[in-house]
Amino acid sequence: KKVVLAYSGGLDTSVILKWLQEEYGCEVVTFTADIGQGEELEPARAKATAAGVKEIYIDDLREEFVRDFIYPMFRANAIYEGEYLLGTSIARPLIAKRLIEIAAETGADAISHGATGKGNDQVRFELTSYALNPDIRIIAPWREWDLLSREKLMDYAASRGIPVEMKRDGAKSPYSMDANLLHISYEGYDLEDPWVEPGAAMWRWTVAPEQAPDQPATIELTFERGDITAIDGKTLSPAGMLAELNRIGGAHGIGRADIVENRYVGMKSRGCYETPGGTIMLKAHRAIESLTLDREAAHLKDDLMPRYASLVYNGYWFAPERLMLQAAIDQTQSVVNGVVRLKLYKGNVMVVGRKSETDSLFDASIATFEEDAGAYDQKDATGFIRLNALRLRVAGRKRG
Ligand code: ARG
Ligand code: SIN
Repeated sequence: KKVVLAYSGGLDTSVILKWLQEEYGCEVVTFTADIGQGEELEPARAKATAAGVKEIYIDDLREEFVRDFIYPMFRANAIYEGEYLLGTSIARPLIAKRLIEIAAETGADAISHGATGKGNDQVRFELTSYALNPDIRIIAPWREWDLLSREKLMDYAASRGIPVEMKRDGAKSPYSMDANLLHISYEGYDLEDPWVEPGAAMWRWTVAPEQAPDQPATIELTFERGDITAIDGKTLSPAGMLAELNRIGGAHGIGRADIVENRYVGMKSRGCYETPGGTIMLKAHRAIESLTLDREAAHLKDDLMPRYASLVYNGYWFAPERLMLQAAIDQTQSVVNGVVRLKLYKGNVMVVGRKSETDSLFDASIATFEEDAGAYDQKDATGFIRLNALRLRVAGRKRG
């Protein structure tokens, strides 16, 4: 028996590694992904080796993550419950997909992860895993063991010689955090009271808007088929682009969110997020779509967006309905080409210009307040309004 474990090298997954070896007596393969969480991965290799792991996978998935997951999601302008840019949600299907691939490569019959039994992540990992391998066995230690308190976990680690060291940057955070190229999230600790404002020290990626520079930054983003391909004329890879937007956005205090959200498992949970690059991307994408998309196509996209966002949030990335919506969304993006100019200032992303040489539907000669060339006859509006008002007038007469 062999199991592939999604392994960060942190305390929780180190305990899980040991627990799997003891409890299931099985061989453990570890998988650690670089999805831009900004942590060194080599310590994970050393720890896995020390724990007797023979097959250790450490993969750089940053480009795939942005190209095949984040960019497609941003074509949909996805936001969950009006606020959440889905930074954690979108990473889970990628990690699960790789777990399943590694299971096939190593002849493992099971996978395991460190998500708790109370959250969304377990659902996302497992729905993806079953979608890609219907026969996979899944071991979720948090739903099985009795190490449910921090103290019990520490005792277990101490008794097994698992090092319980501080984070590399020395700043041990009391929050449950998750970071990748799209965001960093914080949950738990004092956030468990929705009324309590988090301390300034919690935020790691962005400066407070009130501390941001007094001079705005102006950037120009080039879109090709709905995806950002260049900044100020300089082409960057998808992961390079998002890293750059995070850097500029973070410096200008952009992308903080403090929200109470509805988890798929039924509870409300309070979380704080920093999504600087994503916040810029969303605003810019909407701006270029405003110029290039047909009204009805754009409105239908907006109608479908909350459905799409819920599918991503709930873990249905590899479900037929998400793929179906994606195909429709991608179809609209062939005309989403051009440049958006933005000003970043103290937490705000302001669109100050947009253009599309090839695909703009904006016709100044029609929209002008000056005399136009005759494409629009103002007299036509009289009948347009009278017919649209017909049922309102009929009903109005009934009311007397
Ligand atoms: N509540 C967010 C979500 O469900 C963030 C989850 C954070 N996950 C974590 N393992 N800390 O997407
Ligand atoms: C967890 O419970 O493992 C993290 C939070 C979540 O998945 O929603």
